[in-house]
This record gives sequence, structure tokens and C-alpha cells, in this order.
Amino acid sequence: MQTVHTIAQLRATVDQWRGRRERVAFVPTMGNLHAGHLQLVKRAGRAGDKVVVSIFVNPTQFGCGEDYGTYPRTLKQDSLKLAESGAHLLFVPEVSEIYPFGAGHTTQVDVPDLSTILCGASRPGHFTGVATVVTKLFNAVRPHVAVFGEKDYQQLLLVRRMVADLCLPIEIIGVPTLREPDGLAMSSRNGYLSAEERERAPALQQALARGGEALLAGERDHPSLCARISTLLLKSGFRPDYISIRRAEDLAEPQAADSRLIILAAAWLGSTRLIDNLPVTLKNPE
Ligand code: PAJ
Repeated sequence: MQTVHTIAQLRATVDQWRGRRERVAFVPTMGNLHAGHLQLVKRAGRAGDKVVVSIFVNPTQFGCGEDYGTYPRTLKQDSLKLAESGAHLLFVPEVSEIYPFGAGHTTQVDVPDLSTILCGASRPGHFTGVATVVTKLFNAVRPHVAVFGEKDYQQLLLVRRMVADLCLPIEIIGVPTLREPDGLAMSSRNGYLSAEERERAPALQQALARGGEALLAGERDHPSLCARISTLLLKSGFRPDYISIRRAEDLAEPQAADSRLIILAAAWLGSTRLIDNLPVTLKNPE
């Protein structure tokens, strides 16, 4: 696996591949890689001939007081894991390579609607930072296909919408969430949890599962179901940020006839904000 730090080096290699008509698959990450990330890399290996992975802790998607400074940077271990998972090229740019005029002075990509709901409402500016950096990374890498996790479901839809809206010739593949044996969704931020918080953490997925069962059993009063999920979370020591039932396709408020739904939640456990979601397909919507 080759590691490069500049866009010029990246392009030199990718241009050779494209010249040989090889299909380039791309997985953007912020590093501190776990098995969930590596699953995306393996999926990319099936989607393309060559796999490019980026590791870049993107300053513009972190809000004031968030964990940009303390986000775990573990390049050595990440690099070994990526080589084992079949990545061909690792792109690790400096902030100045991605933001040549400064992160605070960048041209921005703003995806309407999806940027301001759910996580976007709690983290103003976050999704503009994500859309901006993903566009820059797409332009730097020039992949045929890119792979994202359903763990960050709103991010996945935002990227799909942006790619369609900006006419980018890139196929977007979504990969289901990989979980720990006790059900907790794998996340770089799980490392922030104390031993006692880590024991409580699977309650987030369990509360969503109770919600999914209720939907499948015919519960249609979404506000009261969300309130019940919230109570379960409070009892397990979480501070819920939001719990919402949406249409899986576009995160709009569901209508009675919609069958593909998703329950999304964000909740604080101590000083760590965890997110998770559960897709639910109803057999007999009205
Ligand atoms: P990061 O949090 O490092 O995640 C990189 C990719 O891994 C995302 O597509 C995310 O959804 C996926 N992922 C994380 N945990 C997962 C799990 N348990 N199962 C499956 N996939 C998982 O998301 C970002 O970085 C950034 O916002 C980025 C897109 C790189 C832009 O900066």
C-alpha cells in the first residue's frame, strides 16, 4: 500500500489507474479505524479494481467546543489495518492541502433541507463541513465509486443528494452498521466512554430495537413511541438529544402509506454523544 500526502502525488497514481481503465473505489475516513471502517474498505475492494482510503480529521465539520483537538489520531495502526484489508493507496493530507486558503475561508457546499434537521439541528454547520470536505476529496481522488456507512445515515443520504444535485459521476454505496457483540454500533468515539459508560452503552441500540418491535406490531403513534424510547434511554443513564421516526428514503416525516421507515437517535452518555439508527420495513402500511 502506497501512502501519499499531497493531491499531486495522489493524482499521479490514480491517473495511471484510470489510464488503464481500472475502476477506482474510495473510502473517506477520519482515521482511528475499527472493523466498521475496514468493512467499507473490503466492500470497496469488491466495487473497484483499486481502493483509495483517506484519513483526514476535517476541522470544518467540528463545532466550537467539540472534539477536533482530541479526536484520536492513530496513523501507524490505521495504516497496518488498511494494508491488511486490501487498500492500495492511503491519502493523508495536511489541513493546508485541503484548505489552501484556510479552513475558515473555504468555498462551501451547502446541501439544503438535509443539513439542518436531526444531527444538523444539534450541530449547526456540521453537514456543510462534511459536504464541503467530501466534495474536495472527491475532486482530489476522482473515484468511480465511494463507500459510506449507514451508521451515519443522515450523512449517507446527504452525500447521495449532493452527488445527484451536483451531477458528480460517482456511484455511492451504503454499508450496514457493524456492531460489537453486545449490539453497540462501532464508533471511534466509543473509546471516550468510561468502563461504566461502556457497559450502559448498548442500551441505545436496545431502546431502538424496542421501538422497531412496536412499529412492526402496528404502533402508529410516533410521538408517543419516541417518548417511550426516550424514557428507556433516561433510565439507562443517557441524556437523549433527539429520537425521531422518519421515512428511510429521504428522512421526511413519514406518511401513513410509507413502508420503509428508520428510527434515528442521538444521546449523550456522560460527555460522549452517541448516534445510532434502526431501519424498519412495515409489511402492511395503511
Ligand atoms: P468517520 O467517522 O471516520 O467514518 C468513516 C466512514 O465509516 C463513514 O462512512 C461512516 O459511516 C463509516 N462507519 C463508521 N462506523 C461504522 C460502523 N460501525 N459500521 C459501518 N460503517 C461505519 O464519517 C466520517 O468519518 C466523516 O464525516 C467523513 C465522511 C470522512 C468526512 O470527513
